[in-house]
Amino acid sequence: MASMNPNIRIFEDLNELSAAAADLWVESAREAVQERGRFLVALSGGGTPMNLYRLLAREPYRSRVDWSRTHVFWGDERCVPPDDPENSYGQAKQTFLDQVAIPAGNIHRVASDLEPAAAAEDYARRLSRFAESGLAFPRFDLVLLGMGEDGHTASLFPGSPVEVTTPTLAVTAHYQNRPANRVTLTPLVFNAARRIMFLAAGAAKADTLVHILKGDYNPSLYPAQRIRPANGQVIWMIDRAAAGKLSQER
Ligand code: 6PG
Repeated sequence: MASMNPNIRIFEDLNELSAAAADLWVESAREAVQERGRFLVALSGGGTPMNLYRLLAREPYRSRVDWSRTHVFWGDERCVPPDDPENSYGQAKQTFLDQVAIPAGNIHRVASDLEPAAAAEDYARRLSRFAESGLAFPRFDLVLLGMGEDGHTASLFPGSPVEVTTPTLAVTAHYQNRPANRVTLTPLVFNAARRIMFLAAGAAKADTLVHILKGDYNPSLYPAQRIRPANGQVIWMIDRAAAGKLSQER
């Protein structure tokens, strides 16, 4: 099967990448509010988006977003309490949500203090309240995703089932030799999004990016390849180090 044909943007470093991502956030929010009266965004965890989150809390970005119409969700979450440094909601809260005028009721975190199965069910119910007609979940205006060196994205890990019929999943996997209890959205939800922005930085990701973007379609081994929205745009925001092997391939 032919590989996807995404929009790839290469930046000098993580700072440039993050500023461009913040611009795209502002643009996506403006379009969504204008067209549909609200902006639905799904955040990712991991280290790469932290720079972007810090930018959003500051000018010139902060006042360019209508936070009262912004609803924040997570593409995946680690099942630890919100004040645990590993918790993606907690990280986003500290880096920007506490510093912008977003109503508490617009922050839709995963109930990460529950067991993964219960948290996944609870999250699915929450998503259904924002459902697009005909679907059990919303069409996100913007989804942020990262990519692990093993090709995972959100908490869709290599070897996990490719065919999934529920919007959320409880994940109990071993990741980097540690048990990982997580909740993740599934490709069903990701692939209904209007826009997906992958953020990848650093030379350690260069080889995997070649497989994902230029290699054969192998969604079991490279879960990031499962992200192929039916009716939406995928943008890869990559720094020069992560793109290192890619440019040679072109
Ligand atoms: C998480 C994310 C995960 C992440 C990638 C990349 O919370 O761990 O869901 O999919 O985006 O592992 O992480 P880095 O940005 O830290 O490289």
